[in-house]
Formats: sequence, C-alpha cells, structure tokens
Amino acid sequence: MIVANWKMNGSKEEVDSWLRFVSANILINKTIPCVFCPPSCYLDYSSSLIKKISSPVKLGAQNINHSNNSALTGGINSHMLKDFLTDYVLIGHSEQREYLNEDNESLQYKIKDALIKNISPIFCIGEPKNIKDQGNTQDYLRSQLEILNTMDSDQITIAYEPIWAIGTGENADKIYIEEVHSFIKEFCCQELNFKEKVSVVYGGSVKLSNCEEILSSSKVDGLLIGGASLDPETFAKIYNLS
Ligand code: PGA
Repeated sequence: MIVANWKMNGSKEEVDSWLRFVSANILINKTIPCVFCPPSCYLDYSSSLIKKISSPVKLGAQNINHSNNSALTGGINSHMLKDFLTDYVLIGHSEQREYLNEDNESLQYKIKDALIKNISPIFCIGEPKNIKDQGNTQDYLRSQLEILNTMDSDQITIAYEPIWAIGTGENADKIYIEEVHSFIKEFCCQELNFKEKVSVVYGGSVKLSNCEEILSSSKVDGLLIGGASLDPETFAKIYNLS
C-alpha cells in the first residue's frame, strides 16, 4: 500500500489536478492499493472525481472522531466517511496523539468503529527520539500496539512512523526499519494472536531518492508519505517504483 497523507495542505484545485495526474500516470497493481488522504473538507469532491474519472486511487480519511455522540462540534464519524465511499482511515498519527491528546482508549474506539463500518484502519505508531536513544523503542511500540489486543483483523495495516523522522528530512535507515518492522510483525502474530500476517508500512521523510532502498526490504509492505506526496509527479513515480 502506498499512501499519500496530505495533512493540512492543498486546495480544491490542487486535489483536482493531483487526482487526474496520479490516476493517469500510475501503473496500478491491484495488490498494492494507492491511497489518497486529503483534508476531510475535500473528501466529498475527491470521492466524486474518483468515480467520475474511474480512477484506481482509493480514498482515505485522515481521522475520525472517537465518539458517535452527535453533540460534538466539528466531529466526523465513520458513518459520514462511508457516505464518501472512504475505504481507509489514518488512526493514531503522532501529530494527532500530540496536538489532539489522543489516548489509547479513544484510539481503540476509533479502530473498532472503523472496522464495524468496513473502513480499513491504518494504525500509526512510532517512538520519539529520546526513546530511540535510550534503546526503548520496542517497549514503547508494545504499549501502542497492545490496544489491538482483541482486534485480529486482516483489515488493519500498521504504519510505523518514527516521530523523529516525520517531516525532518531524516528517514530511518533500512536496517533500523527492518528491525522494527520484524518486531511489529512478530508481536502481532505471537502476542496479539493475529491470524493473518499484518502489513506494516513505513513513514517518515520518504522521498523519491530513498523510497527504493526502503521498499527493497521484504519487511516493508508499503509507504505512508507526507511532504513528498503533495507533488503528483513525485508521488506517481514513487508508486510506480513500488
Ligand atoms: P513526511 O510525513 O513524509 O512529511 O515525513 C509522513 C507522515 O507524517 O505521515
């Protein structure tokens, strides 16, 4: 899976030209979904355009709210996402954990809620720099993964995004990524008893110049791309190299 995470970027015009360009220029491989996560205000437009131009691109949302309580100003629930034929949703991105104070309880609710609506969660985990430096990455990730305890599902993808690599230009190196992805896969299989092999994608300063090296690892099942996904030409090239 190759995912474009636009964060709080773009305009309707840019969504339009990105979707048209990427749809026309990727060599779609049905086993590698190409997922576009625009800001939520562009989901409706993106969904209509994807349908109109018969695009192979799948739609993803950047978040859902943790409550189905209708009295939540600004809230968007999974039922609404389904209206826009949303197939995927990012849950637990480090920016949301930090700025929106998302905790394990609300993240667990969101994952369950998405699964009930048949929206595939892309569950983001990753350690800050001080945890890496102390050699505590696995313990830190274990505490994030534990919320998947009762949720064996082949619909869940894990996105490993070390916080120190997000938006910094400093990606994790291949050996480190392999080590961490192996740990995640083993943990899901042995301690969470996942029946299927879980897909683990990498995110954090992925760009055209490093994507091939990262993807060459058998432990990497795809990429979650922020900054470099904004340019349709770059993103299409990365997808085609996957
Ligand atoms: P980046 O962001 O590619 O700009 O580092 C990745 C992400 O936060 O999903």
